[in-house]
Amino acid sequence: MKRWWKEAVVYQIYTKSFYDTNGDGIGDIRGIIEKLDYIQALGVTVIYLNPIYRSPDVDNGYDISDFRDINERYGTLEDFKELLAEVHRRGMRLIMDMVVNHTSDEHPWFQESRKSKDNPYRNYYYWRPGKNGKEPNNWGNYFYEGRGSAWEYDETTGEYYLHNYSRKMPDLNWGCEAVKEDMCRMMRWWLDMGVDGFRMDAVNRLVKPEGLPDSPNPPAPPVGIHGYVVDRTMCANRPGIHELLHEINEKVFSRYDIMVVGETGNVDAALAIDYVQEERREIDMVFHFEIAKNPTPGNALTFKDAQKRWYHVIEQHGWTTQYLSNHDTPRQVSQFGNDREYRYESATMLAALMHTHPGTVFIYQGEEIGMTNVDFPSIEYYNERYTVGKYYTMVESGVDPKTALDSLKGMSRDNDRTPMQWSGAENGRFTTGTPWMHVNPNYPEINVEREETLEKSVLRFYRRLTALRRENPVMVYGSYRQLLEEDAELIVYEREYEGVCWLIICNYYSNEREFPQSVAERLKAGQARLLLGNYDVTDGGERIRPYEARIYDILL
Ligand code: GLC
Ligand code: CA
Repeated sequence: MKRWWKEAVVYQIYTKSFYDTNGDGIGDIRGIIEKLDYIQALGVTVIYLNPIYRSPDVDNGYDISDFRDINERYGTLEDFKELLAEVHRRGMRLIMDMVVNHTSDEHPWFQESRKSKDNPYRNYYYWRPGKNGKEPNNWGNYFYEGRGSAWEYDETTGEYYLHNYSRKMPDLNWGCEAVKEDMCRMMRWWLDMGVDGFRMDAVNRLVKPEGLPDSPNPPAPPVGIHGYVVDRTMCANRPGIHELLHEINEKVFSRYDIMVVGETGNVDAALAIDYVQEERREIDMVFHFEIAKNPTPGNALTFKDAQKRWYHVIEQHGWTTQYLSNHDTPRQVSQFGNDREYRYESATMLAALMHTHPGTVFIYQGEEIGMTNVDFPSIEYYNERYTVGKYYTMVESGVDPKTALDSLKGMSRDNDRTPMQWSGAENGRFTTGTPWMHVNPNYPEINVEREETLEKSVLRFYRRLTALRRENPVMVYGSYRQLLEEDAELIVYEREYEGVCWLIICNYYSNEREFPQSVAERLKAGQARLLLGNYDVTDGGERIRPYEARIYDILL
């Protein structure tokens, strides 16, 4: 079925690092408003904002203390309404990050909840007595914070509360009817204001396992030194989660013309179908981690295999997302491409892959100019909780500090959180003040202004891709069939829709290759027209060069 959100090109904005307009070193809502022309010119149809609610900011806004107000560092609710109106005026849409697995410990509900065992808000969170003088179970928090437990002792009532993430982010108890009601009312409040949907944070973790049992999986050394087990499967996809999402859909989502994308770790294509199948009425699509966070990137076979399985979700009336990076991952050109001699080629090839595979496309800010990972000299430069927490846990367990840092750098979530590089001026002109986080020192070479002037411009390639999507429904609704399935280097596939057939060929590596015979014949049989490529093919194009990408229209 046709839907606007299937056709969408989404641009993800990490407000804090996007554009600062008042010189305090922190990106803000007015900064987004100022850059709307840039975003629109990129061909974006939907903007997705990471959390901008009121928050003490221990996890850059994923710790919310007031769901109905804006973080004062970013602006005011009035600024937000202006942004929303400006986005709509341009014919674009806006979705917000909706964090409902936990709140900040500074949220009034939690403040009440901790006061006494019979407080009306007590049951909004998971409070448990200790077991044999220890935490209620062996769960470790995902941020490796403190000694590592997912439980924090609170003296006022002598009990522990559950926090899968930071101790400043207590988990909400969705088994409590009042929580459900309050959260649904709050989501409707945003939708009534005109917001066009949500990215639901950690949405498959809202239901916890019955009885909160110990994790059976032993901790992997050198982390988990105190015996706590960081086991993200414990709270994922538990019985009851589908009923809950269906109920939220009935009470909230189904009443509006919106898009809902769920962040779902520990969900593969087989599990995903139950979340996204249209008839089930839960959510529209998920961010899975099978590619973007795959521990063995750079393998075209893994990529192909995952794409095939996720296409199957679409065939069964579901939908999916195409993205290679977000605020929780490294930069895609560094992780999957080559950010040195082939930065342009690999950044554009990866973009071609994302935009021509079936699913809604998500671009993470800076990706469109080929921004790269950062290599900070010491842990003090790093900000995000996971890298910092894991670093100190490793050092405490005896790992040499340099070794610990080196092992964490590549995957650190800070790689994607360094400020946006707008120009070659100081700090990439992200701010005129002191940026809240160090700018990647390569900003003189990699920035928006320069991309506008370069012959080989990642930015302009993105604009061409989004323009193609606007004009060619085959990119959205076309069927998907892989060719050369066993080839570990070349990714070749066809998309077909209403008599239109496209053939896409991408070289995932820096090896040069002979143009595959079978593909050449396929192109000859129909009359092929090259729609877009990241190399010049006036030489006949008989070789496939490093990270080359070509999109052909086959006139049958
Ligand atoms: C999600 C977010 C991540 C955050 C976590 C806790 O995984 O993407 O940035 O730290 O949830 O809310
Ligand atoms: Ca600011």
